[in-house]
Amino acid sequence: MKTGNLQASFLGVIVSCLIFQLHISGGEEGAYASTIKATFRERCYACHGALKQKAGLRLDTAGFIRQGSGDGPIIDTSSLAASELIRRLESHDPLQQMPPEGTRVPREVIGSIIQWIGLGAHGPEGEEPEVDPTMHWAFQPPVSSLNPQANRNRHRSDSGQSLCHKLHHPISVG
Ligand code: HEC
Repeated sequence: MKTGNLQASFLGVIVSCLIFQLHISGGEEGAYASTIKATFRERCYACHGALKQKAGLRLDTAGFIRQGSGDGPIIDTSSLAASELIRRLESHDPLQQMPPEGTRVPREVIGSIIQWIGLGAHGPEGEEPEVDPTMHWAFQPPVSSLNPQANRNRHRSDSGQSLCHKLHHPISVG
C-alpha cells in the first residue's frame, strides 16, 4: 500500500470515528440546537419563518429545512456540493447570497451546517415551529365579549317587557 493510500484510509478512519462519536453523543443535534438554530433565528427567520416564507421556505425547524422551498429541496444529505442552502450561505453575489444584507454567516457556522447536513440534518425530537408573532393577543384587534346586537335586543325586550308589566299591573305588589 502506498503511503498516500495509507494516509487517506487513516484519515477516513478518523472521520468515521468523529461522525460515530457525534452520533452517539447527540453532538449533531447539539450543534443544531446551540449554534445553527440560533444563527438561523437571528439571520433568517425574519424572511423564512412563521411570519414570512420567502421562496416558500421556512428554516425554523429541521423538518422544514429538509422539506425545502417552493422550488424543491435546499439540502442534499448525500451531496453537500449540491446543497442550495450552502451555496447561498457561501455566495458573495448580491443577488444570490443569504442573508441578502448584512454580514455573512461565519465560516465556522457554515462548517457546522455542512457537517449537520452530512449527518442527515436532524433536529431535536418534538421540535416546535416558531409561532407567528402576529397571532399574539396583543396584535389581535379588540373584540367585545358581548355581541352588541344581542345586547341591544335584550335591552329592548327587557324594557318592553317591564313596560307591558307596568301597564297591565299598574299597582303591582312585590
Ligand atoms: C430580508 C429577507 C431574507 C432574509 C433575512 C433571508 N432570506 Fe433567504 N431568501 C429571501 C428571498 C426574497 C428569496 C427568494 C429570492 C432568491 O431566490 O434569492 C430567498 C431565497 C432563499 C433560498 C433559496 C430557496 C430556493 O429554493 O430557491 C435559500 C436556500 C435561502 N433563502 C436561505 C436563507 C438563509 C439560510 C438565510 C439566513 C442566513 C436567509 N435565507 C435569510 C429573503 C431572505
